[in-house]
Order: sequence, then structure tokens, then C-alpha cells
Amino acid sequence: MHNRAACSKRWRWGRRGGALCVSACLLTTAALAQTLDVLHWWTSGSERRAADYLAQQLAAEGLEWQDAAIPGGAGTGAVKVLKSRTLAGKPPAVAQLIGPAINEWGRLGLLLELDTVARGEAWREQLFPTAWRLVQYRRHTLGVPLGIHRINTLFYNRRLFEELALPVPRNWGEFEQVARQLQARGIVPLAQSSEPWQVATLFETLVLGEGGPEYYREAFVQRSPRAYTDERMARALLRLRQLKRWMNPQERPWPELAQQVARREAGMLVMGDWAKAELNSLGLVTGEGFSCVPVPGTHDYHLYSIDTLVMFRGDGSRQSAQEKLARLLVQPAVQLGYNRLKGSVPVRRDLDPAALDVCARASWQAFARGPGMQAPSLVHRMASEEAFKDAVVAQIHRYFIDDQVNAAEVQRRLAALARALGTEGGGKHAQNPDR
Ligand code: BGC
Repeated sequence: MHNRAACSKRWRWGRRGGALCVSACLLTTAALAQTLDVLHWWTSGSERRAADYLAQQLAAEGLEWQDAAIPGGAGTGAVKVLKSRTLAGKPPAVAQLIGPAINEWGRLGLLLELDTVARGEAWREQLFPTAWRLVQYRRHTLGVPLGIHRINTLFYNRRLFEELALPVPRNWGEFEQVARQLQARGIVPLAQSSEPWQVATLFETLVLGEGGPEYYREAFVQRSPRAYTDERMARALLRLRQLKRWMNPQERPWPELAQQVARREAGMLVMGDWAKAELNSLGLVTGEGFSCVPVPGTHDYHLYSIDTLVMFRGDGSRQSAQEKLARLLVQPAVQLGYNRLKGSVPVRRDLDPAALDVCARASWQAFARGPGMQAPSLVHRMASEEAFKDAVVAQIHRYFIDDQVNAAEVQRRLAALARALGTEGGGKHAQNPDR
């Protein structure tokens, strides 16, 4: 993605009267001054298309997006690379950093304040309050929210369901009926990977379904040990184990699950709506080839992950380019173009939801119902810091792969974790009084 757009050819007369073309040197200077390296984890087919779209928009503005994509769903590898690059004194100009981590990096003074851009573009008025608050630290704006993903999404192959006359499951009873029929026809009812973050993504959805947003926050944001010994946690664990009989879990990257649904090897998939974009990139149209409903028990709720880019402070030479990028990303047209390719919905509340597809519209409307209906994804870094998230993910994964591990034991371990790493222990991220 080279920044040719910024370099017009200019002719000027040399001493001997000959015309000299100075475009080459303009190109070099402009490219050097305006290149931003962007560290992120968007590497699947659809994620790439969404990132390329942003790169094209930037190129048209005279900026070059130098891609530093690190493979690994849910950013497992990217966050590690970001930490080591920063420790080595070579942070990128721009990075995908989401949730309370923005606060932590902000506290270290590493992030560029984008207050002028935010004020000039009226972000406070135009963004959903949850998206706005997420990028605030001590009254400064430290990030650019890009899109809101809904995690509690159940995808199903619509054509297959129509052919088999299967109802769309709205509760677990209906889900089981449908699953039985799919299984009887040799189709895996629910596509699922045994990758730790993917198991935990399903699990957090089940917790929301069993307990609703308030209970969910008690467990994953406030990290109350009591929430883990609660009956609702036991039910979510039991449901996770029961669902195993409808899956064929192997360790696979998430785009392969979308392929299984597209190829009718599997009938359904519970995943964040980045899977919608992947299904689209495989040629399936939303609402036709496949569709989506909220996972049973979570109908009115929105389990969210908000993709966000932050800018790293440097020697000041990149600042105007970084601000230009920040400004561009929140423009209504870019928001619509990007989110359509990424599967998420715009972070702006002033957009017309009629412009969105059927799944995106449902997501946008659920999110617009406000914080009471929203739950921040633990696994996708919206609820707590990395250490607590990783510890919970490890416990859930162990429980999922080994049927000998019983739910009560997991509950005890999780309660102990919450005591050790909970808010009383100093981890007050999602409730940060500094905000
Ligand atoms: C990110 C998405 C990404 C997904 C799969 C999530 O944590 O928010 O943007 O598509 O992981 O890698």
C-alpha cells in the first residue's frame, strides 16, 4: 500500500532550461513522513479485507498503513508482541488495544492523547457512551473505537435449515431438538473448536444467559468470589458440558468453523459476529445463505467487544499523521464501510440502522438499549486485565477437555482466583475511578 496518491508530479526548470521531474523526491519525503505501522491481529480473509479497506482510505488521505499483523484469534499473539516491542523501546505508531488495557497503558504515559481530534469531531456526542468511556483516562481520550462486535450470536446455515424444515432455536429446548435432527443426518450440530479462547468465548455467553448482565458483571468485572460459588455459575458450567455432545471439538482456528457452516458440515456456530464477515467472504449472504439469532437466554443482551486502535507517543514526528488517522476512522462513511466488512457495527449512535444487514441491525439495536443490557466480554479483554482473563480461560478450558474435572471444583478454583486477583486485591480496572 504505497502512498502514490500523495505524490503529484511537479516539473520545474533547471539551470540549463531543461525540465526536471521532482516527483520521486516528493514521494520519498511524503512516504517517510506519513507512514504509520499498525500492529493488529486481523489475519483471516474477512479481517484482512476490513484492514485493507482502512489502508485504502488512509492512502487516499496521503497516509501509508504499514501492516504489522500478528496471527492468532482474539489477539493471543499480538498482545505479547506489543508488550515485547514496547519493552524493547520500539512500539508501533498504532496498535489494536482493547478494553481496560487502554487505561493501563495510558497510566504508563505511553499513549498519545487525542483530545483535539475528539473535541473537533464531537466524539463525546456522536459515539455510544460505552465506546466513549472506554477510551477515556483522566479526562483524556486515548484511543479510537472502531466497531462493536456482538459475541452472543448463534449463526445457522439458513438454506440447510429451510431444506430440513428446522425451526430457528430460540431456547435450549428448541436447540436440542434441532441438534438431534442435524446429528441424525450426519451433520455436526454445533461447530466448536477446543482452542482455549474459543471454549471460553462460548462459556462467557452461557454465563450471560444463566445470570443476565448484572450477575455477569459481578463475576467478571467486580470479580466477586461469591458469584463463582453461585448456582448460576454451576448451571453455566453444566450447560457447557452438556453442549459437548453436539460438537466435534478439535483445536482449529475460528475461520475453519465458519467454513464448516458454509460447507454444511456443521449446522450452527456460536461466535462473535466477526464470523458473519467470514461467512460473507465465503460467498454466503447474511439473511439468505445463513442468518443469526441471539444465543438462547441472551435475547435482549449484548455481550460486546469493541475493537479500538491506540496511538503510541513518539518523538512527535508522527503525531499529525496519527491524528489524521484517528479523525478518519470515526467518519460516518468509513465506519459503515469498515464495519460492513468486519462484521461489527458502527460505534456512532447517529447512524441509521436501516443501512445495516439483519444481524448488524439487531446488534446495533440491542447495544443501543444501554448499559443495563450490555455485558463486556471477558475473553475479548473488555471486562478485566490480562492475568485474570487468562487464568479463567485456563480453568474453563481444563474443565471442557477433561470430563473428570467436576464443576464444583472449577467453581472453587475460580472463587480463589477472584479473591486473589479481584477488585479487593487492587484490580479495579473496569470500575476505574480515574475515568
Ligand atoms: C476481536 C476481533 C477479531 C476476533 C478474532 C476479537 O478479540 O475483537 O476483531 O476478529 O478477536 O480474532
